[in-house]
Amino acid sequence: MAQHTTVNLSAINKQIVVPTGLFINNEFVPSVDSKELIHAVNPATEDVICSVVAASAKDIDIAVAAARNAFKTTWGKNVTGFERSRLINKLADLIERDAQALAELEALNNGKPARIARDFDIGDSVQCLRYYAGWADKIIGQTLEVDNKSKLAFTRHDPIGVCGQIIPWNYPINMWAWKVAPALAVGCTIVMKPSELCPLTALKLSELVKEAGFPPGVINTVPSLGHVGGAALAAHPDVDKVAFTGSTITGRKVMEAAAKSNLKKVSLELGGKSPHLVFESADLDQAANWAALGICYNSGQDCTAGSRVYVQNSVYDKFIGLLVSKVKAQVVGDGLDEKSGGGPVVSKTQYDKVWGYIEAGKQEGAKAILGGEKRPGKGYYVDPTDEAIALANDTTYGLGAGLHSSTPTHF
Ligand SMILES: *[C@@H]1O[C@H](CO)[C@@H](O)[C@H](O)[C@H]1NC(C)=O
Ligand SMILES: *[C@@H]1O[C@H](CO)[C@@H](O)[C@H](O)[C@H]1NC(C)=O
Ligand SMILES: *[C@@H]1O[C@H](CO)[C@@H](O)[C@H](O)[C@H]1NC(C)=O
Ligand SMILES: *[C@@H]1O[C@H](CO)[C@@H](O)[C@H](O)[C@H]1NC(C)=O
Repeated sequence: MAQHTTVNLSAINKQIVVPTGLFINNEFVPSVDSKELIHAVNPATEDVICSVVAASAKDIDIAVAAARNAFKTTWGKNVTGFERSRLINKLADLIERDAQALAELEALNNGKPARIARDFDIGDSVQCLRYYAGWADKIIGQTLEVDNKSKLAFTRHDPIGVCGQIIPWNYPINMWAWKVAPALAVGCTIVMKPSELCPLTALKLSELVKEAGFPPGVINTVPSLGHVGGAALAAHPDVDKVAFTGSTITGRKVMEAAAKSNLKKVSLELGGKSPHLVFESADLDQAANWAALGICYNSGQDCTAGSRVYVQNSVYDKFIGLLVSKVKAQVVGDGLDEKSGGGPVVSKTQYDKVWGYIEAGKQEGAKAILGGEKRPGKGYYVDPTDEAIALANDTTYGLGAGLHSSTPTHF
């Protein structure tokens, strides 16, 4: 299989070359032992965009070895903070240069509007890289007081080592930047597993890693199925840290695998079910704006989505009217159309899950005030659906609560 393919951005009559191999030691390579492929789908059309190599557990071993070697010979031990800073800034510049193409590829594979990917996801990613580039040469220890003048005691901050990073499909470029930037800044090396649903932009970003001049093996990108590549990274004896963003259920498995292997360090960013509380004293127009943004942004595919709204009885009807008008104003369409404010959901699985919840809600007596009917034709579209809110307070999730009131004395 070729290590690159040309993909049509047919909605805007352009083409883009996308790498389809595993990115290890700054080269795109095939799997050493597997013919398995990941089929990247355009959720707006349900067409396969292209297929990329799915890394096997053996490929993960090779990527980890590449990252270990880079850690020992270059990035972790023998590259100054000034040089790390320079390269991370260079990567940010290249992402900024290619923002439009990256945004279009993101729209194609994830469904989100290219305009939003460019102005928000990528803009934020560039800032994030530059922020951490600024830290790379400012990582300092302390000198400690001792009781004998002939002694010297000090601390240093050393990089942890090889980091396995497992990112989700809802913000493929953002998540990539948020994970790699701090690890790179301190001198860690990386084996990155993008989501099997949206692997294309991580591969495209890997081209820029090489162009920026990072030494081979500093960032390795291994698209893989979660139960293969994700599991292998979490359990790997030579991975020093694993960072995972995704579901709570998978987060537990990652922590368990880390504990059962080498007690590697773990950072987890898991799911939410965040409430908005709207009080009668609130500026209701503002509250409706925020509540609409809270649930509609990124087609609701957000760990901090405001997926529960509690409204004080006295303003309930007025608030619902405002909320419906705000939500209705959003144009949901193909992400490559500049007019779209929202896109389809990412995959058939998510589409079926969302419709399952809408149906279950209806069966439990909720009334859809807006939406609630499937569109004819192709594409995993779920038009914004607002259900009259039943108080559901029995959840252990939070993460991004909003509170709308002009009288803080409520609390
Ligand atoms: C992409 O577009 C080119 C030129 O318009 C066409 O020849 C090719 O078949 C298209 N490829 C796919 C996969 O649709
Ligand atoms: C450190 O880097 C320098 C310059 O790139 C190189 O000449 C040297 O061999 C490296 N040292 C080690 C231990 O890898
Ligand atoms: C300080 O440390 C030196 C070297 O170990 C030792 O010779 C000396 O006796 C110590 N002085 C005091 C005051 O403990
Ligand atoms: C919400 O849940 C909390 C904790 O279980 C409980 O104390 C509270 O009474 C509940 N509130 C409502 C309105 O059900």
